[in-house]
Amino acid sequence: MTSQRLAGRIALVTGASRGIGRAVALRFAQEGAHVIAFARTQGGLEELDDEIFKLTGARATLVAEDITKFEKIDQTGGAIFQRWGKLDILVAAAGALGQLSPMPVYTPKMWDNVMAVNLTANWRLIRSLDPLLRQSDAGRAIFVTSGVAHDARMYWGPYAVSKAGLEQMVRIYAAEVGHTKLKVNIVDPGRVRTKMRAAAFPGEDPNTLPTPESITGTFVDLAAADCAHNGALVKAY
Ligand SMILES: NC(=O)c1ccc[n+]([C@@H]2O[C@H](COP(=O)([O-])OP(=O)(O)OC[C@H]3O[C@@H](n4cnc5c(N)ncnc54)[C@H](OP(=O)(O)O)[C@@H]3O)[C@@H](O)[C@H]2O)c1
Repeated sequence: MTSQRLAGRIALVTGASRGIGRAVALRFAQEGAHVIAFARTQGGLEELDDEIFKLTGARATLVAEDITKFEKIDQTGGAIFQRWGKLDILVAAAGALGQLSPMPVYTPKMWDNVMAVNLTANWRLIRSLDPLLRQSDAGRAIFVTSGVAHDARMYWGPYAVSKAGLEQMVRIYAAEVGHTKLKVNIVDPGRVRTKMRAAAFPGEDPNTLPTPESITGTFVDLAAADCAHNGALVKAY
């Protein structure tokens, strides 16, 4: 039995079909939130919904869309407004790694996709959802960064650049909403056992890594109505 710290809250989670986003969505549902789960993979979202139903008896709302089709983000904001008139929590966990290679080697298509998923889509979420988050009595927006945003680590080009840009965007947004009830923060999850981590480090034994489920407490803390942080980079490890 969980503490129900998010009872009655409406939470949109991107990247909810697997990995960190999925674990956060499941935990939030167990904490009493209604989850709006966003990702491309319908099957992954349906499995999440089944798991939520099994554990809580409640159903999620599923949005099977590509987050780089930015008009889908606007439509999701419109649909949330129609149905609930507000949004309490945004967890923006969708992310794309792209390819690890020297700077001149990336294809423009791959560069653009990593920037679109990791940076621009998150701005489009802010643009679409800010009025809804401000309608909440304790709106919370949580973004997800990486340690490589701070290092000039070779071959991590677009991923690291997009996360550095994301961090700056989140700091600016947090400053802009500092006088409101909305709190905006960013999580560095550390090394986590997911498909993305396996793609970046194919030789690593996944069993040596923390599971996505093990870091969800940080997200609950930042999503809860008693969260006092704003503009913070919070390490989940
Ligand atoms: N795992 C780590 O060690 C680690 C470390 C630092 C930071 N992070 C960050 O943590 C977040 C979650 O990563 P993860 O490790 O859980 O990765 P993951 O297992 O690869 O999951 C990525 C999620 O993003 C979604 N996504 C990707 N492109 C999308 C698109 N175009 N439209 C809609 N959804 C899209 C995927 O769903 P679909 O494919 O179904 O669309 C999936 O649900 C990311 O922001 C990542 O950068 C992870």
